[in-house]
Amino acid sequence: MTAVQPSLISTLPGRYYTDPGIFAAEQDRIFERAWTCVALAADLAAPGAFRTVTVGRESVVLVRGREGAVRAFLNVCRHRGAQLCTEESGQLRRNLQCPYHAWTYDFTGKLIAAPNLTSMPDIDRVEYGLLPVHLREWLGYVWICLGDDPPSFEADVAGEVAARLGDVALIDHYAIDGLALGRRITYDVAANWKLIIENFMECYHCATIHPELTEVLPEFAEGYAAQFFVGHGAEFGADIEGFTVDGTAGPERLPGVSDDQDRRYYAITIKPQVFINLVPDHVILHRMTPLAPDRTIVECDWLFAPEVVASGKDLDASVELFHRVNVQDFDACERTQPAMSSRAYLNGGVLVPSEHHIGAFHDWVVQKLE
Ligand code: FES
Ligand code: FE
Repeated sequence: MTAVQPSLISTLPGRYYTDPGIFAAEQDRIFERAWTCVALAADLAAPGAFRTVTVGRESVVLVRGREGAVRAFLNVCRHRGAQLCTEESGQLRRNLQCPYHAWTYDFTGKLIAAPNLTSMPDIDRVEYGLLPVHLREWLGYVWICLGDDPPSFEADVAGEVAARLGDVALIDHYAIDGLALGRRITYDVAANWKLIIENFMECYHCATIHPELTEVLPEFAEGYAAQFFVGHGAEFGADIEGFTVDGTAGPERLPGVSDDQDRRYYAITIKPQVFINLVPDHVILHRMTPLAPDRTIVECDWLFAPEVVASGKDLDASVELFHRVNVQDFDACERTQPAMSSRAYLNGGVLVPSEHHIGAFHDWVVQKLE
């Protein structure tokens, strides 16, 4: 006898969204061990360009070396621990110098100078160099992993794309690493990072809170997220010309996008902190940084063909559509966060059938924390 799947299955209990102990465990077991996407490689344009980013509970400095490669180091001086870079981004001239006692490192992390260093010939300059962090570049972004033994990038990152699109090669049609930044908006969201992921994974809310999006993608009004079906992209409405706030035409379709990808929207979640949205003429990429159980920074990039950005074309109608979706989604997450500590949510809530795939995300979180 086959068991009948009940309509409602349970969510995580409320404490998973509020408990500082669970949040610390997530930082340790999830964010400090997984591959996380931390910067657009083009934001580190020239040798010496640096950015500081937060991953889990660590500060990491990214710097482009003289020969062009980007490297990542823990942002901690090996002498007595002062933070090396306190600015979010900038341009270094020749090296990284600690502002405390002036230990100086080159862009490969090697210790190259320090006051009185020549009188301490026994110091190994590589051993006392900056501590490197594993780094990969993919889709034009810098991905890093703080773990000593990183998980397979192919399985955990590219694998999520393959699982969603049916074939990882289909994302290459958008040639994301050749796109240019058209707009970036940073959202400071008063909600737990998992509420933001869960919201992104379902479309049961689309008819209620996303009037503009459901106008462009009428099937979203039925409540099934594009992520529910492998390989499915939600189709534009018949009278819709482009993925814009009013359905008017956007820029030209990207050259590699195939006919069956045209006039469709694909959404991909790469756990634990990236969302990729593919439409024919641009790509929208979200990166999350959880800062507290109830606070998450979301950076959203709108990427277009370089010639479109260079032309100075007005991109407002394209950007405005997903900006509104973001605001609508994050408002919903912020409205939900306070209830996570209510006695009403002690045992959590429920998922309807069109949200059951969120249950697999909950299982993943619980298994990581075990
Ligand atoms: Fe950096 Fe002393 S802590 S040089
Ligand atoms: Fe939404």
